[in-house]
Amino acid sequence: MADPRIPLLLAILHLLPIVFSLFSPPDNLLISCGSTSATTLDDRRVFIPDSTPSPSLHLSSSDSISVSGPSSDSPLYRTARIFPSPSSYNLKINHPGRHLLRLHFHPFPTPSFNLSSALFHVSTPDLVLLSNFNPSDTILKEFIIRVPCNELVISFTPAHQSAFAFVSAIEVFSAPADLVPDVARLVSPDHVEYFDLVSKQALETLYRINVGGLKVTPFNDTLWRTWIPDSKFFMPGSQTKVEAFSGRINYREGRASREVVPDNVENTARVLETQSNMTWAFDVPTGFRYLIRMHFCDIASLVLNELYFNIYINGYSAYEDFDLSDATGQFLASPFYVDFVIDMVDDSGVLSVSIGASNLSSPSWAQGLLNGLEIMKMNNSVGSLDGEFPVSAILVKPVKGVFGVLGRSFLCGLGFVSLFAVVFMLVLRLRSEARNALAWARLPTEVQEGKPAKGNLMLTTKFIY
Ligand SMILES: *[C@@H]1O[C@H](CO)[C@@H](O)[C@H](O)[C@H]1NC(C)=O
Ligand SMILES: *[C@@H]1O[C@H](CO)[C@@H](O)[C@H](O)[C@H]1NC(C)=O
Ligand SMILES: *[C@@H]1O[C@H](CO)[C@@H](O)[C@H](O)[C@H]1NC(C)=O
Ligand SMILES: *[C@@H]1O[C@H](CO)[C@@H](O)[C@H](O)[C@H]1NC(C)=O
Ligand SMILES: *[C@@H]1O[C@H](CO)[C@@H](O)[C@H](O)[C@H]1NC(C)=O
Repeated sequence: MADPRIPLLLAILHLLPIVFSLFSPPDNLLISCGSTSATTLDDRRVFIPDSTPSPSLHLSSSDSISVSGPSSDSPLYRTARIFPSPSSYNLKINHPGRHLLRLHFHPFPTPSFNLSSALFHVSTPDLVLLSNFNPSDTILKEFIIRVPCNELVISFTPAHQSAFAFVSAIEVFSAPADLVPDVARLVSPDHVEYFDLVSKQALETLYRINVGGLKVTPFNDTLWRTWIPDSKFFMPGSQTKVEAFSGRINYREGRASREVVPDNVENTARVLETQSNMTWAFDVPTGFRYLIRMHFCDIASLVLNELYFNIYINGYSAYEDFDLSDATGQFLASPFYVDFVIDMVDDSGVLSVSIGASNLSSPSWAQGLLNGLEIMKMNNSVGSLDGEFPVSAILVKPVKGVFGVLGRSFLCGLGFVSLFAVVFMLVLRLRSEARNALAWARLPTEVQEGKPAKGNLMLTTKFIY
């Protein structure tokens, strides 16, 4: 008789490569807003509640309200936190650097607030993320930002006196090192040049497309992203076919990693069959620069160096005679991406991306291919990703704001280990406590078991605003 443990063992062995390739971000703060208990999603991630004290999370708000609504597709969307006045989350960041920030909004009516009519701004100390934002429908906003110090402050500011803000859930986690490069190709009407320091920009994801494939959900993505099919964006007028690949995707050191693009995106593509152009078009707000990331993985060719194509952004030549075999170091089914930057200053508001036949390609082979496409908005010169105003113009500073800003810059500059800063903060805290009893939550004053005193002091200092 067969050992009943063998199938189990085989199953575990089969899972091993997947388990080892899982990305585990050094910082990973998942918050279910307005909730009193932890929420687990089907992708196994656990979101902590914001209603109970936590060493990594503090809410500064004098009058926030937690509400629950009807049950919905996601357990995250059963609750929300409403902010009738300017409020902020202070999050502890252990590893400063680039982070992904996702804000979930799921409006529902409550007896005193109709969340669909909220109107507010969301900002960090140096970046406007959303301005005059009205989430009238369920929406997820994703940003890639740099956190320079051990704290990330996310502020919610109602747009005017009688307005209010709300949020359903927040995700903040460290980005993989290779997610944002330093250089991209800046495409102009008549030439292409290198655009330096992409990595210094804050980005907002507008579109993330699995070309020729199905929707990829957070469950199946290495960074819990959602990739949607390209059908809504694909322009008629060319002859293409959808290609699917069941073999192994050949991830290679120094090229696109599995965190940058998952197998589920790379193993499908749209292939251009005639000597023409295939084009995708996207509505985007004008007045910003955009980063366009095109994901390629040659799952269509049988031999190397047969696939050549041209790339056009807004009809401008962005790359001529692109040879995917050459780019991947002579490998098929190997992921590679190219980043382009384009200015959308004209009023058309439509960003188009085309793949066209190259003079070098043979009429009997595929004329072009695309596997994935991401379009991200870059911050403008006033540090905004939404509108033309800097943070200072949208933040209504409370009376003690000066102390808060001063305190935060101390925290940024010296970190949480500086005794001086700690003492300074404690003095300020005592003063602020004496003056202001409108604390949202009582903070633990003893060192919790197993938690370093440092973290607890940090929490205490965050009390000041
Ligand atoms: C909530 O507000 C939205 C948008 O302002 C409106 O369409 C909707 O009817 C309102 N719902 C309720 C229950 O008042
Ligand atoms: C994950 O991917 C597998 C294989 O592509 C698919 O069968 C499954 O339905 C996906 N699961 C979710 C939750 O998207
Ligand atoms: C594809 O579009 C570009 C830009 O509009 C154009 O210059 C090029 O000739 C087209 N290529 C083909 C093969 O039609
Ligand atoms: C392709 O060939 C046409 C005609 O021979 C020429 O006008 C065009 O400049 C060539 N394009 C590229 C990208 O070499
Ligand atoms: C975005 O912000 C960074 C730093 O805050 C700044 O260096 C950069 O110039 C801004 N981007 C644009 C397009 O102005």
